[in-house]
Amino acid sequence: METQPQPYVLTLNNDEQDRMVAQHYLLRTAFGSDFNAPLKSQLQKGIVVLDVGCGPGTWTMEMSTAFPKSTFIGIDQNAFYPKDIKPRNCHFRTCGSLVVTHIAQTIDLPFPDNSIDYIYQRDMNWAFTGQTWQPLLLEYQRILKPGGWIECVEPDLETQNSLEQECMMNDKRKSLLSTLEKLMLIYARSL
Ligand SMILES: C[S@@+](CC[C@H](N)C(=O)[O-])C[C@H]1O[C@@H](n2cnc3c(N)ncnc32)[C@H](O)[C@@H]1O
Repeated sequence: METQPQPYVLTLNNDEQDRMVAQHYLLRTAFGSDFNAPLKSQLQKGIVVLDVGCGPGTWTMEMSTAFPKSTFIGIDQNAFYPKDIKPRNCHFRTCGSLVVTHIAQTIDLPFPDNSIDYIYQRDMNWAFTGQTWQPLLLEYQRILKPGGWIECVEPDLETQNSLEQECMMNDKRKSLLSTLEKLMLIYARSL
C-alpha cells in the first residue's frame, strides 16, 4: 500500500539553524570527536567525503578545515549552508528530496558509481520515512568506493506516546534497524 509523503517534523527557520549548530558542538563534546570511522590517516592524506543532509554545514566546514587535503561535499534539500565564505576544499549542493514513500522507489544521488570514500549522515531520521532507509543505503553502496565507509549518527529513540506522528517515529526506527541488519547480512555473505 502506498503511503502519503510525511512532512518534515522539524521547522526550517533561523532558530532551527541555530539549534543545529549548537547541537553539532554539543555532540562533538559528548563524543570527543567529529567522527568515529577509523579514517584519520586517510583524511589527512586526502579522500572524498559526502555529508548527506548537511544542514547549516557545520560538520562539513569543521572537517574541511581540519583535513585540508580531503574534499568535502555537503548536500541538503534546503540551502542553509554557507554560499561564499568557506574553506576551498568545502563544497555544497542542493539536492532533491531524499524521501521515498514506498520501498520500490529509488533514490538518485548526483554522484558516479565508486566515487566517494566516506559518507557521513547525521540526524536525518526526522526527515525520512521508514521506506527511505533501504533505497538510500543501496544508493550509498553504489556511490561508495570499494572499502569505503558509511557513518550514520542517528538517535535511538522510542516513544511511548500513542499519537500517530510519534508512533511513526518508532516505525522509522524499526525500519532503519532492520535495513541495517539486512545490509550487514548481504555484506557478510559477499565476503
Ligand atoms: C536535523 S537536520 C541535520 C543537519 C546536519 N546533518 C547536522 O547534523 O547538523 C536535518 C536536515 O535534513 C534536511 N532535510 C529535510 N527533509 C529532507 C529531504 N526530504 N531530503 C533531503 N534533506 C532533507 C533539512 O533541510 C535539514 O538540514
